[in-house]
Amino acid sequence: MRNDIFPEHFLWGGAIAANQVEGAYLEDGKGLTIVDLLPTGEKRRGFMKGNIPSLAPLEGEFYPAHEAIDFYHRYKEDIALFAEMGFKVLRVSIAWSRIFPTGEDQAPNEAGLKFYDDLFDELIQNGIQPVVTLAHFDVPVYLIEQYGSWRSRKLVDLFETYAKTVFTRYKDKVKYWMTFNEINMLLHLPFLGAGLVFKEGENQKQIQYQAAHHQLVASALAVKSCHEIIPDAKIGCMLAAGTFYPYTCNPEDVYKAMEKDRESYFFIDVQSRGEYPAYAKRFFEDNNLEIKMEPGDAKILKSHTVDYIGFSYYSSRTTSTDPEVIKNMTSGNVFGSIANPYVSKSEWGWTIDPKGFRITANQLYDRYQKPLFVVENGLGAIDEVTVDGEINDDYRIDYLKRHITEMGQAIQDGVKIIGYTSWGPIDIVSASSGEMKKRYGYIYVDRDNEGNGSLTRIKKKSFHWYKNVIESNGQTVESGSLSRL
Ligand code: BG6
Repeated sequence: MRNDIFPEHFLWGGAIAANQVEGAYLEDGKGLTIVDLLPTGEKRRGFMKGNIPSLAPLEGEFYPAHEAIDFYHRYKEDIALFAEMGFKVLRVSIAWSRIFPTGEDQAPNEAGLKFYDDLFDELIQNGIQPVVTLAHFDVPVYLIEQYGSWRSRKLVDLFETYAKTVFTRYKDKVKYWMTFNEINMLLHLPFLGAGLVFKEGENQKQIQYQAAHHQLVASALAVKSCHEIIPDAKIGCMLAAGTFYPYTCNPEDVYKAMEKDRESYFFIDVQSRGEYPAYAKRFFEDNNLEIKMEPGDAKILKSHTVDYIGFSYYSSRTTSTDPEVIKNMTSGNVFGSIANPYVSKSEWGWTIDPKGFRITANQLYDRYQKPLFVVENGLGAIDEVTVDGEINDDYRIDYLKRHITEMGQAIQDGVKIIGYTSWGPIDIVSASSGEMKKRYGYIYVDRDNEGNGSLTRIKKKSFHWYKNVIESNGQTVESGSLSRL
């Protein structure tokens, strides 16, 4: 690969989220948030979907987020390692319930604000720019109890207050923002994505799309405040992306793939183009959905569109209308996909498709014509520590190398990509399974699924590899021999 493909100031780095790294779940006044109610084990998936029996942690369950990897106390050590790899940016999220423990407190929690002041200062002193998501699977539990979370319009105002508070406080430190992480997750894991809990017999789709409308308005208002308070900042949306392929060229399959893509693009169409897409009208009618909108909402959406499109890419997806073919689903991916015979799978059943990354990036750029920011990509895998204390994660290097190569191809296709933050540069708690053994990091964390371990950090082989990637601005150097992508 040529060495001049990635722009000079390309934003290389990594991405983490408060709920999966910080721990200290009740420290310094923090309130409970969504993940504090998600145990490991079999119950987790049902809870994430909104079938949750209690809005308090249950006796006898293990909650991995409560301590996570203790980033709250160890962030200096971790940032030093990120700096050693040469990170230009670190994507983090702010825990809403550290700033407003109940979500509707009269004044923000100073201890929470100070934590992020210190975190951002530490990053900046290490030459790393923070990229901040306002809500990464995060709603204060009190707001879920009081208002049913995003099903209520009330959340729009409360979120606006929260957003204005953090923009004002960090305006000199943070110039890249994002509103809701993987906003389309609301359709697949509604409790994880948006704090939605369902009662028996409720019309879930109606509630989900009403909540989506509230988030979309809240997102536009956050864009407005960000532009007013920090005129030199950029603020984006964030999509769980991954193009759907039709299983065959049967037009029925092709149409279904288009519909499946639209399910996700729906959100970004509103956030980026500023209005509900034409196909939404028919979709709402066909599904008997009535979305309550306030006068003025359309104007808010139209006037405050995002500056860039942030997205995660792990896998492409495949769909079909053939009931026989549909039986062969891959496990592990919340989006549900038919096993694609042309590509491989991870240990968790997630499709590995580097070319799909190039395809997805091209489609997003064609559709929105706005800069793209790849804010998540990576391989969740089991790592073994050798007797010499080494972790030789060649499989991870292989995955990332192939994906970064395709990202380079997309840039040569003309797609404007401003940065790449791989997911979980240090091992963190898995969002979907709550496991620690599903590791994405360049840095190993000594902790297991049950919460045992010293939390010691160890550099993996991929640590040195990624350092070279950044140093050479994408002209990857494999450890040992000098071989180009
Ligand atoms: C994305 C999320 O869905 O994928 C992250 O934004 C998550 O929070 C990541 O961790 C990887 O998924 P998992 O389930 O392997 O942690």
